[in-house]
Amino acid sequence: MTTTSNPLRDPRDKRLPRVAGPCVLVLFGVTGDLSRKKLLPAIYDLANRGLLPPGFSLVGFARRDWDHQDFRQIAYESVKEHARTPFREDVWTHLSEGMHFVPGEFGDPGAFDALAMAVKELDESRGTGGNYAFYLSIPPKFFPKVVEQLRRSGLADRSDGEWRRVVIEKPFGHDLASAQDLNDTVHRVFPEESIFRIDHYLGKETVQNILALRFANSMFEPIWNRSFVDHVQITMAEDIGIGGRAGYYDGIGAARDVIQNHLLQLLALTAMEEPTSFAAEAVRAEKAKILSSVRVRGDLSQSTARGQYASGWQGGVKVEGYLEEDGIPADSRTETYAAIKLEIDNRRWAGVPFYLRTGKRLSRRVTEVAMVFQKAPHLPFSHTDTEELGQNALVMRVQPDEGITVRFGSKVPGTSMEIRDVNMDFAYGESFTESSPEAYERLLLDVLIGDPPLFPRQEEVELSWKILDPIEEYWAGQGGLDQYKSGGYGPDSADELMARDGRTWRRL
Ligand SMILES: NC(=O)c1ccc[n+]([C@@H]2O[C@H](COP(=O)([O-])OP(=O)(O)OC[C@H]3O[C@@H](n4cnc5c(N)ncnc54)[C@H](OP(=O)(O)O)[C@@H]3O)[C@@H](O)[C@H]2O)c1
Repeated sequence: MTTTSNPLRDPRDKRLPRVAGPCVLVLFGVTGDLSRKKLLPAIYDLANRGLLPPGFSLVGFARRDWDHQDFRQIAYESVKEHARTPFREDVWTHLSEGMHFVPGEFGDPGAFDALAMAVKELDESRGTGGNYAFYLSIPPKFFPKVVEQLRRSGLADRSDGEWRRVVIEKPFGHDLASAQDLNDTVHRVFPEESIFRIDHYLGKETVQNILALRFANSMFEPIWNRSFVDHVQITMAEDIGIGGRAGYYDGIGAARDVIQNHLLQLLALTAMEEPTSFAAEAVRAEKAKILSSVRVRGDLSQSTARGQYASGWQGGVKVEGYLEEDGIPADSRTETYAAIKLEIDNRRWAGVPFYLRTGKRLSRRVTEVAMVFQKAPHLPFSHTDTEELGQNALVMRVQPDEGITVRFGSKVPGTSMEIRDVNMDFAYGESFTESSPEAYERLLLDVLIGDPPLFPRQEEVELSWKILDPIEEYWAGQGGLDQYKSGGYGPDSADELMARDGRTWRRL
């Protein structure tokens, strides 16, 4: 379908000019948090932008005694509440006609047989062409069971000209061995090219823009190396606690939940060499090369830090500490904050530390990659004139307040030569009239089209666990962990990690 043939599409929107072909999307875990807040709204947004095929069908699967109409009503509420684009009755009516519900429990073969019948019927009635994507938005412990049921029921089998894709949400295992087990299980049923591992950070415009910034311009790449860069700070700070997700979070912790996937992917995009093209294999190969060059040097007590949030004040509200949260054992040693110092053993980055940190219940929500540059080798000014001059920095703001900031020294207006840091800003909201699609919108469309560059392959997942496993093992052998005040900046040990190198974290 061309751009002009589609009346629902905004012709000015050139960013996603691709439209999915006929298919069924089966959403397991459709009653869950992720489905309601992100996936169902993203499907509507894609429909609203005319990026789904006319016969597109969505099958929800969960343990509810619902009929199709109940499912449509729940989906309607979630779309009304969370969709990014305006609600349009005609789009909704068209989309909801293709929504079906199959009740079932993952352990029940009969439910999967019913699912197989349901999708076959959709092929007949809506022309979905025998193409199925299975989205596993479910607790990770059920991945093997559902994949096995897809095999047993024949849903994973395809005839010539048809496709099958399976979408797996993070976490991909909880260490290297379990990630390999999971991979073996999924591979017994689906080939690698049919497996789409979601790291939703890669669907964000601002994350993809790291590659545009680096490889579409000439002014940044020459200084993007050890000759100019002093160090790099990659931060994902959250101002919320674990919410109601104690069952998921405890025993996992900040490093497995965020560093293993989102932050190491950001590191890879920031540090990798230019790919030969933006084809999936070329981009993934460069990311894998960087991840295999990452090292944690020396004594882990000096290059890592972790902590747990204690009670405090957040946005004017008194909040409880992690150990007082519902469902968290009083002696839990799961970290809610983690910081690690990494190095990359290659010619471009030798000796440049990459500091990664993530934490919950910090003072502000922010995700950014900051390249901090070396000081000018010589300053022909008096010491007092440059007292307030820091290091130049280029900050890629991933969220919120998406954009890029360049920090540099500038003369303070007046008669003296006083120099102070100033910021030059690019903000998405001011430079583009188009709003950015949600990450899940982009990723769901890529799954339906079969476009894999934004999905990590197994090699990257395993390399990331190889970086993290020794750290987790070291932490497991340690006693208690630092507490930090909710609404603050993280544990003192994280500040000490930076202070040992004569550096400080960027202010949150
Ligand atoms: N929530 C997020 O923001 C987020 C972010 C990133 C990644 N993820 C990942 O996304 C996945 C889903 O997360 P979530 O937060 O949406 O989980 P959730 O709220 O716990 O939802 C789990 C879903 O699985 C279904 N389910 C559980 N056991 C089942 C069984 N035995 N048979 C049939 N259905 C069953 C539940 O259905 P019932 O209604 O029948 O219980 C529910 O629909 C997880 O892998 C998670 O790690 C989530």
